[in-house]
Amino acid sequence: MNSRSYNTRKRILVTGGAGFIGSHVCARLLKRGADVLCVDNFFTGSRDNISPLLGDPHFELLRHDITFPLYVETDEIYNLACPASPIHYQFDPVQTTKTSVIGAINMLGLAKRTRAQILQASTSEVYGDPEIHPQPETYCGKVNVTGPRACYDEGKRCAETLFFDYHRQHRVRIKVARIFNTYGPGMHPRDGRVVSSFIMQALRNEAITIYGEGHQSRSFCYVDDLVEGLTRLMDTDESTTGPVNIGNPAELTIRQLAEKIIELTGSRSKLSFHPLPQDDPEQRQPDISLARSLLDWSPRTELEDGLLKTIAYFEDFLRQSTGR
Ligand SMILES: NC(=O)c1ccc[n+]([C@@H]2O[C@H](COP(=O)([O-])OP(=O)(O)OC[C@H]3O[C@@H](n4cnc5c(N)ncnc54)[C@H](O)[C@@H]3O)[C@@H](O)[C@H]2O)c1
Repeated sequence: MNSRSYNTRKRILVTGGAGFIGSHVCARLLKRGADVLCVDNFFTGSRDNISPLLGDPHFELLRHDITFPLYVETDEIYNLACPASPIHYQFDPVQTTKTSVIGAINMLGLAKRTRAQILQASTSEVYGDPEIHPQPETYCGKVNVTGPRACYDEGKRCAETLFFDYHRQHRVRIKVARIFNTYGPGMHPRDGRVVSSFIMQALRNEAITIYGEGHQSRSFCYVDDLVEGLTRLMDTDESTTGPVNIGNPAELTIRQLAEKIIELTGSRSKLSFHPLPQDDPEQRQPDISLARSLLDWSPRTELEDGLLKTIAYFEDFLRQSTGR
């Protein structure tokens, strides 16, 4: 039974709320007038990400691991908890799968009990190393089940299955977003992801590490655009479940990205080439036709503008860490 409070503000639970994307989601929801409960075990998240929100009386923080049940009252759940970069999700792969699978079961159970609507932060990794480009939601993917990335890819695939089974079996109101590469302020400085790594290396004038020849392509979505897409999906009516791709279809090669970051930071860094890691996809680009038609959404931020804001964030981070 969902015991509504007298308060008319929507109560929204954000798991992984102290992480990169989660902290932006919390900030956006507070701005929209919600009461936000941020739940995080701080595996990759940080208090710094949410420190600007801590003084807000409508913001609450709970240190909790979602692989354990949680009993709170809530109207909506954004389920974002899960390490997202290969370095982090491969650190403890069993815990990664548990977070996706047992975490999903716990959050779906909570949604069932409270009759809350729940959104899953799924990923383009469910497409694995795709054979078709760009990837529409109907593409079932090509994932290596036993490889080192499987803890993340298969964990997220199983979580999607659970979402749809809770929907069919228990009529839980679900939304599944398949998020593609996202970047912006608040990214973990040592997550090994391409945008954060290149910017950190460029700002320190260190060699920029490129795997393979750098011809593999990626598309990068600025975090504000992504958050807009997620909230629009949450706001759709009950019949809209997804999955919906949310990402930026503008593609560029890893080498082009490195060169752009060197230019924008005015760095003296040189490119340094290394062997490709296992299961690294050649190309990754979302087909966002569904998001355009269903949510009237498409990314607005130009790569250069987004990169400049992200560079400013990392400059500040470096200044603070060297000043300590
Ligand atoms: N950033 C991207 O490009 C991207 C792309 C696709 C999907 N996603 C998904 O979006 C979500 C957020 O990603 P992010 O980039 O902000 O990553 P992140 O690592 O910055 O955030 C994840 C947060 O979840 C927390 N967490 C991890 N395990 C937990 C657990 N068991 N219980 C409670 N909290 C836990 C971490 O401490 C962290 O704060 C993830 O689910 C990720 O899979 C992100």
